[in-house]
Amino acid sequence: MQKNTRNLTYCIKTYGCQMNENDSEKMAGILKNLGYQEEIDENKAGLVILNTCSVRENADQRVLGIIGSYKTVKKNNPDLILAVCGCMMQQPEIVASIKSKYPQVDLIFGTHNIHRLPEFLNNFSLNGNRMIEVWEDSDTIIEDLPVQHKYPFKAFVTIMNGCNNFCTYCIVPYTRGREVSRRPEKIIEEVQALADSGCLEITLLGQNVNSYGNDLEETVTFAALLKDLSQVEGIERIRFMTSHPKDLTDEVIETIAKYDKICNYIHLPIQSGSSRILKKMNRKYSREDVINRVEKIRELIPGVSITTDIIVGFPGETDQDHQDTLDLIKTCRFDSAFTFMYSIRTGTPAATMADQIPDAIKHQRLNECLEILRDLSHECNALYQNQIVKVLAEETSKNNPNRLSGRTETGKLVNFSAGQEAIGQIVHVKITTAKSFSLDGEMIEGD
Ligand code: 5AD
Ligand code: SF4
Repeated sequence: MQKNTRNLTYCIKTYGCQMNENDSEKMAGILKNLGYQEEIDENKAGLVILNTCSVRENADQRVLGIIGSYKTVKKNNPDLILAVCGCMMQQPEIVASIKSKYPQVDLIFGTHNIHRLPEFLNNFSLNGNRMIEVWEDSDTIIEDLPVQHKYPFKAFVTIMNGCNNFCTYCIVPYTRGREVSRRPEKIIEEVQALADSGCLEITLLGQNVNSYGNDLEETVTFAALLKDLSQVEGIERIRFMTSHPKDLTDEVIETIAKYDKICNYIHLPIQSGSSRILKKMNRKYSREDVINRVEKIRELIPGVSITTDIIVGFPGETDQDHQDTLDLIKTCRFDSAFTFMYSIRTGTPAATMADQIPDAIKHQRLNECLEILRDLSHECNALYQNQIVKVLAEETSKNNPNRLSGRTETGKLVNFSAGQEAIGQIVHVKITTAKSFSLDGEMIEGD
């Protein structure tokens, strides 16, 4: 028997944000083109790729633990190729540490060169030498990569890479480089192709979608892109993330209000409710600016859902600053929020700021945020009681195999009774119970 028959199966494990998920979908597309098949069981796959996240320290630690565990996996399966990519690899000290402590890693690449995966695999299969290639930055976007989307009916579409904002806590500008926008015609082409294949919902991705087009020669704004995309026939829902409050223009809000297909949902990370802390974070807006934006959104888009991100325990955050955050959350009445304890990221300005906050206080502040958010979320969800809403049915419900789950236009998770054949369709659902973090309902037949 031939010994070295290559196992052309892959398993990609993705950590972190939607941008990473989209990169993983691209790598899956590339691998499919090379003749690879997906293998969900990482112990059976011939190629395992860990697509890593660096945004908070616990993400780093988790991945290093997983890489460590591959020492034994590789002993049992020496032909396994272990690749590690993504944001963590953009940090030279992490690459150096993997180089010296984790010989089980075969391929290391970064966020800017995933399109080179075929070359990496080819070289490795020829010489078996560990390969490390990380690009510091990139001013071009590689177009026309194959993409293997997780769902046929909804898809991520990256409209820009990188970030120019340098919030003082954040590592993303270092791991993802400067802002580079895709040309609008390439985005429209991709969305048209998705529509032609039956896709109903797209989510436009960028670290700060509101500055889309600033780096392009032609004048094109995010609002203009949204307008163009809502002309694409077949696409029923357009979502986008993330909006930086400093750049959310009236024009974008008016565009969301005007075009039916653009979902009445905005993820607007405020991070803090204290103007003093916002200044130290280099966010370039004040608490009053947030109130002004939220008022404008609610005035123009009735029934809109607004979600946010909050960081508690930023260096120097006083009790009063924290109270300001709690107060702003209540004033804005966010539908929900992702809440994080500030995590030191080496190399960012906040890492060396004085008055780092003890963990116990961070925990307490996080809990206080969560309590308010749970009540707010329940109140927001209660407005849906007995309403008939449109839901894109996505999959079998996690807790009940006889029900489906999906999302409203406003991003609410709905668990409802319906047959499997509804998966992938937008159906009408009557909401019977509103809970804090989801809605229960029944599909209305005949739609
Ligand atoms: N510590 C805690 N949270 C962070 N985020 C980004 N950097 C950090 C950090 N160093 C959060 C922000 C951002 C979200 C994606 O992650 O809230 O909006
Ligand atoms: Fe990080 Fe700020 Fe850029 Fe968001 S806008 S990715 S928080 S630097």
